[in-house]
Amino acid sequence: MSFRRWFLTALAVSSSTLPAARGEPVQKAGLQLPANASIHRDAVQQLFVTSYEAYQKYAWGHDDLMPESLSYVDARNGWGASIADAMSTLWIMGFTDWFEQAVNHTATVDFSRSQTNDTVSLFETTIRYVAGFISSYELSGEKYPILVQKAQEIADHMVYSWVGNNSVPYGYINFTDNAPTVTTSNIAEAGTLTLEWNLLSKYTGNDTYRQLAEKSVLYMANMPGDPLPGMPAQTIDPTTGLTEGGYVTWSGGSDSYFEYLIKYPRLTNTDDNIYADTWLTAVDSSIRTLLRNSTVGDHLYLADYDGDEMIRHVGSHLACFYGGNWILGGKMTNNDTIVNYGLQLTDACWNTYAGTATGIGPETFAYASSDGNYTGGGAPTAAQLQFYDEHGYYITTSDYILRPEVLESNFYAWRVSGDTKYLDNAASAIKSFQDYLPTTVAYTGINDVNNVTSSKIDDMESFWFAEVLKYLYLTFDDPTHISLDDYVFNTECHPFKAPAAKSTYGSGPAS
Ligand SMILES: *[C@@H]1O[C@H](CO)[C@@H](O)[C@H](O)[C@H]1NC(C)=O
Ligand SMILES: *[C@@H]1O[C@H](CO)[C@@H](O)[C@H](O)[C@H]1NC(C)=O
Ligand SMILES: *[C@@H]1O[C@H](CO)[C@@H](O)[C@H](O)[C@H]1NC(C)=O
Ligand SMILES: *[C@@H]1O[C@H](CO)[C@@H](O)[C@H](O)[C@H]1NC(C)=O
Ligand SMILES: *[C@@H]1O[C@H](CO)[C@@H](O)[C@H](O)[C@H]1NC(C)=O
Ligand SMILES: *[C@@H]1O[C@H](CO)[C@@H](O)[C@H](O)[C@H]1NC(C)=O
Ligand SMILES: *[C@@H]1O[C@H](CO)[C@@H](O)[C@H](O)[C@H]1NC(C)=O
Ligand SMILES: *[C@@H]1O[C@H](CO)[C@@H](O)[C@H](O)[C@H]1NC(C)=O
Ligand SMILES: *[C@@H]1O[C@H](CO)[C@@H](O)[C@H](O)[C@H]1NC(C)=O
Ligand SMILES: *[C@@H]1O[C@H](CO)[C@@H](O)[C@H](O)[C@H]1NC(C)=O
Repeated sequence: MSFRRWFLTALAVSSSTLPAARGEPVQKAGLQLPANASIHRDAVQQLFVTSYEAYQKYAWGHDDLMPESLSYVDARNGWGASIADAMSTLWIMGFTDWFEQAVNHTATVDFSRSQTNDTVSLFETTIRYVAGFISSYELSGEKYPILVQKAQEIADHMVYSWVGNNSVPYGYINFTDNAPTVTTSNIAEAGTLTLEWNLLSKYTGNDTYRQLAEKSVLYMANMPGDPLPGMPAQTIDPTTGLTEGGYVTWSGGSDSYFEYLIKYPRLTNTDDNIYADTWLTAVDSSIRTLLRNSTVGDHLYLADYDGDEMIRHVGSHLACFYGGNWILGGKMTNNDTIVNYGLQLTDACWNTYAGTATGIGPETFAYASSDGNYTGGGAPTAAQLQFYDEHGYYITTSDYILRPEVLESNFYAWRVSGDTKYLDNAASAIKSFQDYLPTTVAYTGINDVNNVTSSKIDDMESFWFAEVLKYLYLTFDDPTHISLDDYVFNTECHPFKAPAAKSTYGSGPAS
């Protein structure tokens, strides 16, 4: 146990003698939907039905599409992974026959042997399969224990990602011989396991899973010499336990490490403050060092910080989960400053949708703030500068691959603030999806969000089912259904039942 860990644990013990009060609810009290919400909810359901029927018709039973494959590539392609990833959405939308069909199908898959010639991603498989099965097990009243068994079959391969005394797991496993791929990983892949593996331990009675996932996060939270307090560099080598480079970001490769630091204490109500305090430290660092407002439009973003200690004025669809995460964590820690930043970050991310010809936001973007416009890439073109002058950001990667994060934060903003502009945003996104994403059979990504006749990306990601359509549906559903006071969402939008909240979480950022 490191000094810092011991110190924080000692603090937690002394503060537990204070009177315990029930925390303020996360969701706005008395939140009610306007009458026209059901129109939008039905429209989302229709997008889902069309997509799922096409998935069943064209993907199921096609060997070349490897329906049971667990590899990252196939998870990305959606086939196979989509059954696991869609399951909790099927339940929430009330498609009980399809839900039971998915459970029945899952029961037939033998995860004890490899279904793929590829290696399997610890991270992707945890957040899509293990989480999809466990969330569905909980939502359906623990009626289908086969879902826990199948999650465990998968995890019993993935435990081989931890080698020898390594705290940090390798990222990929060969499911045939359980050999890990010995290469570097990142803090997101190593730090986005605690919710799922804790619940797997809870429902199987085998504590090994929880211990492994916690070991990895606690190791990273205790690492000395982070480039910014509470914010480790993105790349980590499980063999040495050392980080590489100095790139700090809320975007892909780091994102859900931060996300789970505050969600794990919400799921467990642990009195070990290290998780929430490390999150508060990361947020405090971000406010001090990464927060930027654009010189046009005054939009608020979190910049990246690179290995040369330079601020990169960039943003991404992936990073746009940060608004919702700060809203949730700010509520949990009773910190309105953090909640308000979360709302502003959400609004700026929505602005990346509002500015394009399709009304859908791009994969990556950039901006200028009062300290300059360094991005780590080339200078903006004349067309990008013109776009920047109109919108307060410019597009650097123009595709949309059915990602959820902007609508995820928009969902949190609605449930917490009750401001109906977030319903208007969601309704606008649904309209854009209906107008610009249809193929002859379903919906797909597009190569250029600023082109209403963009070419399409012939692919339907499983997170379209798991995340985009679930967040949109819940935005227009009764706010007491899957309330943020009763559930905590994994990073793939699978809700897990949460205990009654503590009065607060953590003791504050490390000074
Ligand atoms: C699932 O399997 C059970 C048991 O075999 C069966 O009774 C049920 O009809 C199946 N449900 C669906 C939707 O296929
Ligand atoms: C794995 O490779 C073997 C040999 O090339 C092939 O016969 C088999 O179909 C492949 N399995 C899958 C699931 O792709
Ligand atoms: C997985 O392990 C099996 C058995 O050792 C081997 O034949 C196969 O090539 C390995 N696959 C990968 C992708 O490394
Ligand atoms: C718990 O799970 C681990 C990992 O699969 C396994 O090695 C161990 O034998 C299991 N313990 C029990 C008591 O089943
Ligand atoms: C693991 O750590 C323990 C205690 O430090 C040590 O005795 C043991 O040799 C280590 N095992 C390996 C495989 O490194
Ligand atoms: C909220 O968090 C910010 C950022 O760490 C901090 O500066 C502020 O003091 C906190 N406010 C309260 C009331 O704790
Ligand atoms: C945003 O810009 C205004 C005016 O340029 C400035 O006063 C303010 O401090 C900025 N806020 C942040 C968080 O940088
Ligand atoms: C960014 O900096 C370059 C070079 O200093 C300049 O030419 C360009 O106009 C700037 N763009 C913005 C959006 O400020
Ligand atoms: C619902 O109707 C009101 C009143 O006509 C309108 O202002 C609002 O934008 C509508 N909201 C949605 C999400 O359609
Ligand atoms: C828009 O996309 C279409 C189809 O790919 C292409 O032909 C056209 O040139 C694009 N327009 C612009 C302005 O990029």
